[in-house]
Amino acid sequence: MKPIIYLPRRICQPALDYLGSFVHLRIFAEERPISREEFLREVKGADALLPQLSHRVDGEILDAAGPQLRIVANYAVGFNNIDLRACSAQRIPATNTPGVLTETTADLAFSVLMAVARQIPAADAFSRQGKWSGFSPTLFLGADIFGKTFGIIGMGRIGQAVARRGSGFKMRILYLNRTRLPCQIEQSLNATYTSLDELLRESDFVSLHCPLTPETRGIIGENEMRQMKKTAFLINTARGECVDEKALVQALRDGLLAGAGLDVFEKEPELAPGLIALPNVVITPHIGSATLETRTRMGTMCGENIKAVFEGKRPPNLLNPDIYE
Ligand code: NAP
Ligand code: GLV
Ligand code: GLV
Repeated sequence: MKPIIYLPRRICQPALDYLGSFVHLRIFAEERPISREEFLREVKGADALLPQLSHRVDGEILDAAGPQLRIVANYAVGFNNIDLRACSAQRIPATNTPGVLTETTADLAFSVLMAVARQIPAADAFSRQGKWSGFSPTLFLGADIFGKTFGIIGMGRIGQAVARRGSGFKMRILYLNRTRLPCQIEQSLNATYTSLDELLRESDFVSLHCPLTPETRGIIGENEMRQMKKTAFLINTARGECVDEKALVQALRDGLLAGAGLDVFEKEPELAPGLIALPNVVITPHIGSATLETRTRMGTMCGENIKAVFEGKRPPNLLNPDIYE
């Protein structure tokens, strides 16, 4: 009998085809987010769980699944939705999808940066609405990107991939990380390690690429926004909770910042009151890794982790190695 893998939301077909070749797929039938009650009910009897970042997996879900559950394979690199302690307490390995979405997410981060700096969505809407009356030397005056100072908070896989894009635009890169990078990497990225204060004061663009942790929750609040240049842009493709969204709306209203490019939000899919009324914000619905190639690769990576566990091996992308100690 093939093990049962439960997906609280359908993923792309090529990934399902791969998973279906060695597990029995059980998928929440509806094309909408599952409720907590439905998740608790439907997870019962699963041998493997393939949740997404909007699905909180804690002790209650593990208990609801039952003692046969062997692995939680998160369909995301970020794993703030998984209670690792609860997984370890039940000796269940948890895994994520590092690396395969790095370049795709960096592309999106740089896209929203460019979109907000050059007002691409507003200019597109204006043109479609038939408002254009001919070339104007003052129409949609944006901000230069080339040669500007770029502050990156969280210089891991995605942060470095974003820095490489910035280097291509001859940007001066400042960065903050939990641990300083080796000097060869700093040199290859032309990146300078700084304090948060200096990064905020100096940067024309500030982009977040840290995980959501107790230390990074609210890392950009009102005080931090006040330290930024009035001409600066804030880009967030990490996690919504890293930024105080209410304070951001106020800062944009008050002209403390020039604009923001946001792919992630504090209470997805809700947006902070007033956010959509602001002209200087570009909003995308958490699509950082959303290409067919990458979402397929994320699915096969989850599958490789699941397969390993069912073959009695340690999964390659293990998040809680303590369970094997
Ligand atoms: P990663 O390689 O682990 O990089 C995260 C970096 O943040 C690490 O270098 C880490 O430093 C650093 N960091 C941790 N705590 C910090 C702190 N308090 N202050 C400053 N830096 C800190 O992860 P990744 O693959 O680049 O992914 C990063 C995050 O992006 C994910 O966790 C996820 O939330 C988000 N993401 C979003 C999307 C999207 O669709 N929008 C897609 C993919 C990922 P150390 O190495 O020293 O710990
Ligand atoms: C997406 O947000 C991820 O963490 O993979
Ligand atoms: C603009 O189109 C220019 O030719 O400068």
